[in-house]
Amino acid sequence: MPSLNLRPASADDYRRIAERRLPRVFFDYIDGGAGAEQSLRDNVADFARLKLKQRVMRDVSALNPKIDLFGETWSMPLALAPIGMGGMMRKRAEIQAVKAADAAGVPFCLSTVAICSLEEVAKAAARPFWFQLYMLKDRGAVRELLQRAKSVGVRTLLFTVDLAVVGARYRDIRNGLSGGGGLYGKLRSGIIDYFLHPAWLVDVGVGGRPHVFGNLSAYVPKATTPTDFRAWVDGQFDASVTWKDIEALRKEWSGNLVIKGVLTPEDARAAADAGADGVVVSNHGGRQLDGVASGLAALPLIADALRGRAKILVDGGVRTGQDVLRARAAGADAALIGRPWIFAVAAEGEAGLKRYLSLVMHDFRVAMALTGVSAASEIDGRLLDHP
Ligand code: GLV
Repeated sequence: MPSLNLRPASADDYRRIAERRLPRVFFDYIDGGAGAEQSLRDNVADFARLKLKQRVMRDVSALNPKIDLFGETWSMPLALAPIGMGGMMRKRAEIQAVKAADAAGVPFCLSTVAICSLEEVAKAAARPFWFQLYMLKDRGAVRELLQRAKSVGVRTLLFTVDLAVVGARYRDIRNGLSGGGGLYGKLRSGIIDYFLHPAWLVDVGVGGRPHVFGNLSAYVPKATTPTDFRAWVDGQFDASVTWKDIEALRKEWSGNLVIKGVLTPEDARAAADAGADGVVVSNHGGRQLDGVASGLAALPLIADALRGRAKILVDGGVRTGQDVLRARAAGADAALIGRPWIFAVAAEGEAGLKRYLSLVMHDFRVAMALTGVSAASEIDGRLLDHP
């Protein structure tokens, strides 16, 4: 295990720094998954198992890691996944993240339940960012959020479809974050833990205004604490949603529509039939149904089923540049990272995420060179070493 005094060199190093800095309830909210966390572990293990084929002597002196997707040029096939409550991990974390993503040339996706609002992020963003939305029972709020997203320049909507109900996350239950207790639920141990993390307390607790979910304050005017916002959000997940609702959404949203949270060829086809431009093959970071396959394992059949009808992103377990290459080789157009970006921001803010993204870029270029491809667009299944 590397010492924390050394410079972080990997997603895991940032995770460890974040673990020291964050109160347990916040670290566990990010780090944890549903149930026994089997799917969460499989996400990482499945990437590690996918072997690459080393190739040599192929003149890789000029590498082009860029791709074009959803009308944008990306510096590499990677985007930052939506993360809820990011601004509780670091002061205005979503602002720090969008700046780091812009500097690195990769898309940033803002969560509905972020701390910073669409409007605040738009002020800091140098290029169009993405927005993630669930189907809320309050359809008026959905329509207004779409309108707000459009008017601040969002062109790509990630629409989450695997949240008909919220997964059973045992760590959140233990910590009092779910199950009615809220962030201050376990008052004594919770508050003491805040004071045991003074760097976080000063940065976020005192200076970070983490108590307002920026996108939602207009719809929950009486909310004054994160617990009030979470109670509202928990009551808004709509278990009655079907593909018909996505067809209706398609008529309302003229930008890119990417359906996040499919794991089967049937559902991927249904998303394309409903007019989606893309899908995210995902088990929601192992946070929803424990026991399902990883996104990576589900990818090949979905790529076969879609045959180019919709673009394919994958998430869950992406930690390194090799993983980004593996994702493309296994049939995705690009990968999303979730936990690593918020841990890098929690650990060292914007500078930490910039550095982490530069490490991923470096790894990705090494992986391209040593699998013998000069352009990211050439990455395909031939790079995999099937036993
Ligand atoms: C919300 O989408 C979560 O995974 O916590």
